[in-house]
Amino acid sequence: MRNKLFFLVILFLITISCEQKTGISGLSKGTSINKRVEHLLKKMTLDEKIGQLNQYTSRWEMTGPAPENSDSMFMYNMIKKGQLGSMLNVVGANAARKVQTWAVDSSRLGIPLILGYDVIHGLKTMFPIPLAEAASWDPQVAYTSSRIAAEEASASGINWTFAPMLDIARDARWGRIMEGSGEDPYLGSKMAVARVEGFQGDNLASENTIAACAKHFAAYGFVEAGREYNTVDISEYTLQNIVLPPFKAAVNAGVATVMNAFNTLNGTPATMNIHLQRDLLKGDWNFKGFVVSDWASINELILHGVAANKKEAARLAITAGSDMDMEGNVYIEELKNLVENNEVDETLIDDAVRRVLRVKFELGLFDDPFKYCNPKREKEVVFSSKNLAASRNVARKSIVLLKNSEGLLPLSKTGKKIAVIGELAKSKDVPLGSWRGKAIPNSAVSLLEGIENVVGTQNVTFAKGPVYIKNKRGFTTELEINTTDRTGMKDAVSVASKANVVVMALGEDCFQTGEGRSQTNIALKGFQLELLKKVFEVNKNVVVVLMNGRPIQINWMAEHVPAILETWFLGSQSGNAIADVLFGDYNPAGKLPVTFPRAVGQEPLYYNHLNTGRADKTDMVFWSHYTDESNAPLFPFGYGLSYTTFHYSNLKLSSKELLPNGKLTITATIENTGERTGEEVVQLYVRDLVGSISRPVKELKGFQKIKLKAGEKKEVTFELSAKDLQFFGAENRWKTEPGEYRIWVGTNSAEGLESGFTLK
Ligand code: NOJ
Repeated sequence: MRNKLFFLVILFLITISCEQKTGISGLSKGTSINKRVEHLLKKMTLDEKIGQLNQYTSRWEMTGPAPENSDSMFMYNMIKKGQLGSMLNVVGANAARKVQTWAVDSSRLGIPLILGYDVIHGLKTMFPIPLAEAASWDPQVAYTSSRIAAEEASASGINWTFAPMLDIARDARWGRIMEGSGEDPYLGSKMAVARVEGFQGDNLASENTIAACAKHFAAYGFVEAGREYNTVDISEYTLQNIVLPPFKAAVNAGVATVMNAFNTLNGTPATMNIHLQRDLLKGDWNFKGFVVSDWASINELILHGVAANKKEAARLAITAGSDMDMEGNVYIEELKNLVENNEVDETLIDDAVRRVLRVKFELGLFDDPFKYCNPKREKEVVFSSKNLAASRNVARKSIVLLKNSEGLLPLSKTGKKIAVIGELAKSKDVPLGSWRGKAIPNSAVSLLEGIENVVGTQNVTFAKGPVYIKNKRGFTTELEINTTDRTGMKDAVSVASKANVVVMALGEDCFQTGEGRSQTNIALKGFQLELLKKVFEVNKNVVVVLMNGRPIQINWMAEHVPAILETWFLGSQSGNAIADVLFGDYNPAGKLPVTFPRAVGQEPLYYNHLNTGRADKTDMVFWSHYTDESNAPLFPFGYGLSYTTFHYSNLKLSSKELLPNGKLTITATIENTGERTGEEVVQLYVRDLVGSISRPVKELKGFQKIKLKAGEKKEVTFELSAKDLQFFGAENRWKTEPGEYRIWVGTNSAEGLESGFTLK
C-alpha cells in the first residue's frame, strides 16, 4: 500500500512536469497529433474553443515590436482570455514573438496563435505576380518562388499564408485576375500544386515552411461583369469542370487551409455554402484542414440578405463548415449563446476547433511556439542576394514575347542609341505589383536601370512623357488618371526621334489591379496611346514593354509596332529580367495563361468555350458573332514567341482507339529551326466531339517545356488515359463518354497538328 502511494505520487509529479515541459498539449511530441488534439480539446471551455475560431488583424504597423497602445492592449486582453486563436498582419520576428508570448504565457491554456499574412508573390523579395508566373508554364518556377516566399515569411513570424489564390478567371475586367493562374483549370491545377508544395515543403513542422491557404472557395473569379465582389451565377457543370479542379488538386497536395469567398454562388454565399464546404470539400474530398472565412464575410451574410442578424450569420456559417471567423467578430459574440440555446450543436464547434488545433500541431507550434520568430534568420534570409537572384530567374521566365516582326529583338548591346520612354520605365515601384507583402517601396530594379546595367548610361536617354497617375496611391482613393496635362509629350517625341531604337513602357499602374480594382475599360489609359502613336511617327523601331496585371486591349499597338514584350509586374528584379530578354541573354519562352481580347466587349473571352449552335460564319447575320468586332482573340491562350522558331511535325498516336483501361501515347517532333537555343512549351489539347452535354471546343490536357539547341529535334511524348477525358456531366457525376475525340499538339491553343481517336 505504501509502495502504491509512493508510485502514485511519483506518477503525479511526472505528469505535472511533462505538462510543463511539453507545453499545453500535455502530451509529448511523439504522441500522435490526433491524440494531442483530443487531449487538449477536453481541457477547453466553450469560450476557449470559440476563441480558437476567432481571428483579428493587428491594428498596428508591425515592422517592429508591437507598441503598447490601446489597440495592443485590446488584443492582449483577448489573447489572455483565450478569445483569439489567430491574428493576421503581424509581421516581423519580434512582433510575432511578442503576441505569441502573450498567447503562450498569459492565456490559461497557453495555446499558440497561428499568424497569417497575404504572402502572395513574395514577402520582401518580390517575385512576379502569380498571373505572370503562370505565363512561365513551369510549375518548378512557381515552386521556387513559393518556397522562397515561405522562407522569408517563416523567418518573419508568419506561419500561414493566404495563398495560393486558385480562382480561375476568364474576365480581364476583374482586378484580381492578377492574383491567379489565369483561365485554364489544367494549368491552374499544376500551378496550385507547385505553390502548395513550395509554401508547405515536405514537412509543415520545419522552421522554414508555412501553411498554405487555397482561396477563394469558390467561383470568385466568375463575378458578373468582372465587377469585384459581385454575384456569381454559374452551372454546376462550370463549377465542377472549370472552377474546382485547382482546389481539388491543392487538397490532394495536402493544403493545410482553405479560405472561402465573398461571393454568392447561385444565390447561396460561399461562406454558408454547405454544398461547397461540407459536401465537397470536407465530404467527398476528405479535407482535414480548416476553412477560414474571408475578411468579415460571415457578417456579409446579413448584407447578402440571407441572415437577419449576426446570430443567424454565425449559425449559418458554422453549420456550413466555415471554421474560423476572419475579422468578423461574429463567432466570438454569437456562438456561445447559440450553443447554450441548442441552436448550434457543440460538436460543430469541436470539429472546427479540432481542425484549427491540428494545423497548429502540424506546424509544430506547440513544440516550439517561437520557431517562426527568429530575428537572426530574418536578417539573413529576407531580401537576400540569393533570393533576388532567384527572383530574376523567375521573372525572365514569366515574360511573353507577343510580337517581333522585323527581328528587332534582341537588341544589340553596342552601337545603338536607345530612347527609353514612359513613366513606367523609370518606376521602381510599379513592378512590385499589387499584393506586395512587405516589399520595400521603390525597391524594384526599374526598366531604365535594367537597360543601363547592360549598356551603360551614355547611349541611353530617358523621357517620361505625360504623367500617368495624378494622385498618390492608397486604399481610400481611386487612382486618378491624367487626361488633361500633356506636359512631357514633346520631349518624349524629340528623344525618340534622335534614337536608333525606342523602348517604351506602357500598360497600367500595379494598383489598377488587385482586390477592389475592377475596370470596365482595359485599353491603354491616359495619354499612353497618343504618346505611342506620336513616337511611332518619328521612329518605327519601337519595342513596347507592357506592364500590366490583366489582359489589356492593345490592337493598334499589335498591328503597328514591330516588337511587344508582355512583362506583367515582375517583382524586385523586373528591370534586370526584362533587360536579359531585350538584349538576348535570355530567350523568352513564356506563353499567355489568359486570352487577350480585341475589345473589352468580348469579355469573358476564353479558349475552352462551347461551340454554340451557330459557330460557323454564314452569309446571313444569324450566326454567333459581333457585328462590330471579330470573335477571335487578339492573342490566344497559350500564345508566346521565341527568338528562335519551332517546327512541329510527325504527330503520331499509338492507336486510333483508346480502351477504357488503356493508354494512348501521343508523340510529335519539335525542331528548333532558328539560329539560337530556345525553349518551347508544347501543348496538348483535346475535343470530345459528341457528348451528352455540349463540350468545350478545346481543352488543355498536357504541356511540356523543352529546350532545343539551334537545329535540334526532339520527340515529345504525352500519355492520355480515359480518366484524363472525364468530365462532370448532366447526371451530376464524373464520367467518360465513348466516342470520337480530336487531338492537337501545338504551340498555342489556336494552332497545332491535328489527329483523332475513338474512346471505346
Ligand atoms: C480579403 C481578401 O479577399 C483575401 O484574399 C485576403 O487574404 C484577406 N482579405 C486578408 O487580407
